[in-house]
Amino acid sequence: MAAKKMDELVSLCKRRGFIYQSAEIYGGLQGLYDFGPLGVELKNNLKNTWWKSMVYDNDNIEGLDASILTNPSVLKYSGHEDTFSDPMVDCKSCGLRFREDQVPENCKKEDLTEPRQFNLMFKTNVGPIDDGTSYAYLRPETAQQIFTNFKNVYDTTSQSIPFGIAQIGKAFRNEITPRNFIFRVREFEQMELEYFVKPGEDDNAHDTWVQKRIEWWNNQGVPMESIELYDVPTDELAHYSKKTIDIMYKFPHGVEELEGIANRTDFDLGSHSKRQKDLNLSSQVMKNTDSNSKLAVKDEGGDLFVPYVIEPSAGVERGVLAILNESYFEEDLDNGKKRIVLKIKPHLSPIKVAVIPLKKNNEEIVKLAKHVKETIQSLNLGRVIFENTGNIGKSYRKHDEIGTPLCITIDFDSLDKNTVTIRDRDSMEQKIVKIEELNTIIKDKINLN
Ligand code: GAP
Repeated sequence: MAAKKMDELVSLCKRRGFIYQSAEIYGGLQGLYDFGPLGVELKNNLKNTWWKSMVYDNDNIEGLDASILTNPSVLKYSGHEDTFSDPMVDCKSCGLRFREDQVPENCKKEDLTEPRQFNLMFKTNVGPIDDGTSYAYLRPETAQQIFTNFKNVYDTTSQSIPFGIAQIGKAFRNEITPRNFIFRVREFEQMELEYFVKPGEDDNAHDTWVQKRIEWWNNQGVPMESIELYDVPTDELAHYSKKTIDIMYKFPHGVEELEGIANRTDFDLGSHSKRQKDLNLSSQVMKNTDSNSKLAVKDEGGDLFVPYVIEPSAGVERGVLAILNESYFEEDLDNGKKRIVLKIKPHLSPIKVAVIPLKKNNEEIVKLAKHVKETIQSLNLGRVIFENTGNIGKSYRKHDEIGTPLCITIDFDSLDKNTVTIRDRDSMEQKIVKIEELNTIIKDKINLN
């Protein structure tokens, strides 16, 4: 059965080196986590799959890697300085501070203060003088620097509308109550696409991206049964959005947002433009007295228009959590024992293949095993490891738990007959195959999605 409790996932992540609490030796820092040797592979595989599906599979999507430290004007005109806040209350009894909708049951209503707005952006000093006048924000979403680079990308590529700009990177939010492991943290990564379309073509493009994004999550091993779509009601929509569909996932702690797909209208490009009156904007924007550019393009007739934006925005950490949750199984074996197995999609597995010599101290076997490892590694499918524990059973148990799709054992027959034993993680089936067949078998198994 799949993991039901967050505790099981947290324990596996710590035990096997996926995710650690940040600065644990100093007692940690709330809402921050570090990704260990397996976690970083899983995260990279997920991000690479997203990048491929966006940038490589679509000729009209370009990539970007913009700065994290953000000029305050960007976040003034985006609306973040005024509206990116959560209501916060203090409990006079326990002395703790909570987001208004996340007060624990044991705090009594009469002990709570009136809610106050708390801005979630982190601010930091820029340059050598710390007098509060020279500051920047750590970006709260990757999106804004995509908008401020809209003209740069448009002018330096041969794109025309519709086209998109994709970015993966860190975002920072001073969450009042970070919780549920890596679900709500203060430093996380987003995978965001801003897709620019002509006004009037936005509703169709929005529907299309919702479908594409659901399909993509299905291909990462997050099935329809675990997803719910939430059509965000008008009174809950962000200030820039005309319509937002959230892809909600059944996390171990409850059904919550995995990705949001918003129709941001012409708000963003409009709000970052100068002389907005010339632009016939449909959205309400703050008058911009600082921008030196009109983020608009010409239509066939030569008239300027501001594109609408469709934005699929997904969290990497939430993706990792959903994928771990979906792939975690505890199985009863025929011998009465149990095994934990991570049936993660092979293209996402942190380790693709483990090559294990049967005898730890047999020079010839070890030498051949190293050679086989190097040959498989050169296929560039991801990390392949040579594991000289001398205990095949223990290695199989470990690789089941960390989701390695294939283990290859090199034994005496490998020396005499040029064969190896290949074991499949999910079926536990073991097959003897020729070494020269390995590349094809492995490539077929670890297909890139
Ligand atoms: N640019 C739009 C935007 O940032 P959002 O709904 O605030 O929209 C998008 O965030 C995604 O980022 C969410 O669906 C979630 O996956 C992820 N995310 C947001 N806040 C997070 C947090 N504190 N910890 C982890 N992931 C978060």
